[in-house]
Amino acid sequence: MIYLDNAATTMRKPQEVVDAVVAAMGSLGNAGRGASAGALDAGRVVLRAREAVAALLGCPHADHVCFSANATASLNAALSGLVGPGDRVVTTVLEHNSVLRPLARLADERGVEVVYAGCDAHGFLDLDELERLVTPGTRLVVVTHGSNVTGNLVDVTRVAQVAHAAGAICLVDASQTAGAVPLDVAAMGLDVVCFTGHKGLMGPQGTGGMAVADGVDVRPWAEGGSGVRSFERRHPLEWPTRLEAGTLNAHGLAGLAAGVAFVEKNGGPAAVGAREHALARRLYEGVRDAPGVTVYGGWPVAPERCGGIVALNVDGLDSAEVADALSAGWGIACRAGAHCAPLMHRALGTERQGIVRLSCGWFTTEDEVDTVVAAVRTIAA
Ligand code: ALA
Repeated sequence: MIYLDNAATTMRKPQEVVDAVVAAMGSLGNAGRGASAGALDAGRVVLRAREAVAALLGCPHADHVCFSANATASLNAALSGLVGPGDRVVTTVLEHNSVLRPLARLADERGVEVVYAGCDAHGFLDLDELERLVTPGTRLVVVTHGSNVTGNLVDVTRVAQVAHAAGAICLVDASQTAGAVPLDVAAMGLDVVCFTGHKGLMGPQGTGGMAVADGVDVRPWAEGGSGVRSFERRHPLEWPTRLEAGTLNAHGLAGLAAGVAFVEKNGGPAAVGAREHALARRLYEGVRDAPGVTVYGGWPVAPERCGGIVALNVDGLDSAEVADALSAGWGIACRAGAHCAPLMHRALGTERQGIVRLSCGWFTTEDEVDTVVAAVRTIAA
């Protein structure tokens, strides 16, 4: 199989990640619950994962990295914990349903006003429009760091400046970029960064979380077991406990720590991202002039602001037909359809056809890319 669906999950994991999960499954108790050797070991594993993610994301205090099951869980928690009745939230058409749907719920249930900044013809965020929408009194600006459809990157440092100038908080969805594009909560002035563990961080599914800057008060969303202050009526507010009700996935977090170590060992997010970028660029160069192929996203105009994705269609074919042909003819795995990003597809005019998303990862090879190029050209011909 040629695996070009790394934007959905990095299916091929480093052996160190597999080994770490297997070892954890055989030895860990429940982190923060009791003082047996297994419980203490689980606590150490979780702390190591917290410190590794904090270092990778430039979060000054490891206890402000709060783990969850995935980016969706953390985005729900952050949105719910930051936004109150009647607040104004600015977001963008690039967002995934993990942002759009919680915001729709907040609009329905808390009377939150949600407005959306658009994009240009290449799918790049219209920063001027975003700036116009972030009026004084706006509570929150929530934006993806990279589109999961096109791979286009967003200048989140600039977005944070715009947000702060209006007194708003800046929440970044780093699902597509953590581990593959440098992020620094402190240096970039970001308030909250939500991430998943199973994509660029190379960890297991069922891991994710958020990194929170000092002074940002994300209120607890879920309440329950905390392992401390059991006689208090409500969930404790200390970090990271406030956002970690219930038993943590220590087995998965053991793998996440190993995944982060793998990224660091290979030069860190900048080096990993550069490799993925070079592979995607090779793919783009190979298909861009193929008759009947339309490429979406920023490659023709600003390749330096593109990630590891090439998004395309073949004239006259549904994206799912192309994905099926790639799979049946060449064993190529990719993702077609709407990618849980309805507003991005609407902006690109691909609501009916969908898009064939080809996403490179650390383990993708140039030979594989060349096979994909030949396959797309053959289908289009
Ligand atoms: N959100 C993931 C994707 O874009 C699953 O495929």
